[in-house]
Amino acid sequence: MKKTVLFLLTMIPFVMQAQTPYYAERFRPQYHFSSQKNWINDPNGLIYHNGEYHLFYQHNPFGNNWGFMSWGHAVSKDLVKWTPLPLALRVEGGKMAFSGSVVYDAKNTSALSNNKETPPLVAVFTAHDSLNQSQHLAYSIDNGRSWSRYAGNPVLDLNMTDFRDPNVFWHEKSKQWIMAVAMPNEKMISFYSSFSLKQWTFQSDFGPIGDTSGVWECPDLIQVPVVGEPDKKKWVLLISQNSSMQYYVGEFDGYKFYNENPSNKVVRPDYGSDYYAAITYKNTPDKIPVSVGWVNNWNYANEIPTNPWKGAMSIPRKLAVKKMGSEWVLVQEPIKALRAMRSTGQVVNGPIAVKNGYTLPFRSNCFEMEVDLKPAITSISGIKIAVGGNRSFVIGYDATLEQLFIDRTNTPSGFSRQYPYFAKKNAYLKQQNDKVKLHIFFDKSIVEVYANDGELVFTSQIFPEENDTGIEFFSDGNVSVFENIWFWPMRSIWK
Ligand code: FRU
Repeated sequence: MKKTVLFLLTMIPFVMQAQTPYYAERFRPQYHFSSQKNWINDPNGLIYHNGEYHLFYQHNPFGNNWGFMSWGHAVSKDLVKWTPLPLALRVEGGKMAFSGSVVYDAKNTSALSNNKETPPLVAVFTAHDSLNQSQHLAYSIDNGRSWSRYAGNPVLDLNMTDFRDPNVFWHEKSKQWIMAVAMPNEKMISFYSSFSLKQWTFQSDFGPIGDTSGVWECPDLIQVPVVGEPDKKKWVLLISQNSSMQYYVGEFDGYKFYNENPSNKVVRPDYGSDYYAAITYKNTPDKIPVSVGWVNNWNYANEIPTNPWKGAMSIPRKLAVKKMGSEWVLVQEPIKALRAMRSTGQVVNGPIAVKNGYTLPFRSNCFEMEVDLKPAITSISGIKIAVGGNRSFVIGYDATLEQLFIDRTNTPSGFSRQYPYFAKKNAYLKQQNDKVKLHIFFDKSIVEVYANDGELVFTSQIFPEENDTGIEFFSDGNVSVFENIWFWPMRSIWK
């Protein structure tokens, strides 16, 4: 009898675990990618191949904190719904598999496939141990399902402890492979070229320039269209520097990148606290790059209160640039395919004039919303989401300073000492015909705000109380107007 009771007691944790199925946990994003369980960070090896989008990602297969870095793997037909696949790369010879990219070697320039009919996918990644980071290859001839290491690794080794995150693409004009790779402590991106993926020749360095406050990581060099000029393209260099991102816009001739944006100004793909290590799918069907970033921040990444998973990926964003004054600005649009997850919209008849506060007649913590805000002159106005008690997440516009801001100060933060330091973020935003166009995504613990058709983006994590699901428009006593209001509760991609 006693034994049975003991046995039953030991079973309790398992039974309790079984009560929360994966993807139904509190805080679990419903339409953002996360791994079923355990830690993830950077997206890796983004490639569209044979009708599938591959998402590899930094992953600890053994626990819910950073460690044993391997490449997790999932595939999708639409960048919305994902099928998890077995690990692609694991720790080997005592070396972790750090971030990198995957290319399709259609002409088998690497000779890694011994059959012409099956050209390889080649992963170029950093093998890491505490003494050395160098660039290695692995290849797959079965659509990325299984991977073999190249016997001649490393393919690029400078005997450095910090030298990582190779991002490779085929440069058609110069008919060679190009690698952008980070020299983190020097705050430089180095460019190498190759005809075989196996031998690499140094071409040039870019940096230090712009934000050099943290180590430089995860470069990505892409060509994107210019808004309104269908035949024109510009080169964009994305980099991450602990713990935010920045970009440069200009030209690339196969050897060197020329920045055309003012060198004294820092511009970022995302002004929120939680967007890092974003890289792109370069070879999408319409050839327009689509970026995906890790929604977290190294300052507190390991401490966020999520279990048995940690870390998620942003909504994939279609990229373009437009010229504003003397500056090229990155424009980001959430992929249209995500609209398939909208359920029937709630009708909110506008315009609504708001002097102080207006509470919307429904609640949600999993939705997409569009609103045009016409702020009163000199007002501070905007939208509060995750409202409950005196808690809320604020998305606001300061008309005097011409700044859009987000503020999570009044949301729970007790799980980390660092997290509160990143509570408020703002960036300059000019009104468009007296309006601030807001496109907001709230997904349990992730907020993404796109302003003025993707000119400015903020991504932030929040960990609200269970019933903090209210939504309010607010203004500071001056009358601001909210119009063209669209609201869709979102369905889960995991069902
Ligand atoms: C960026 C990063 C990369 C590195 C990886 C390790 O977040 O630090 O530079 O390859 O994470 O997990």
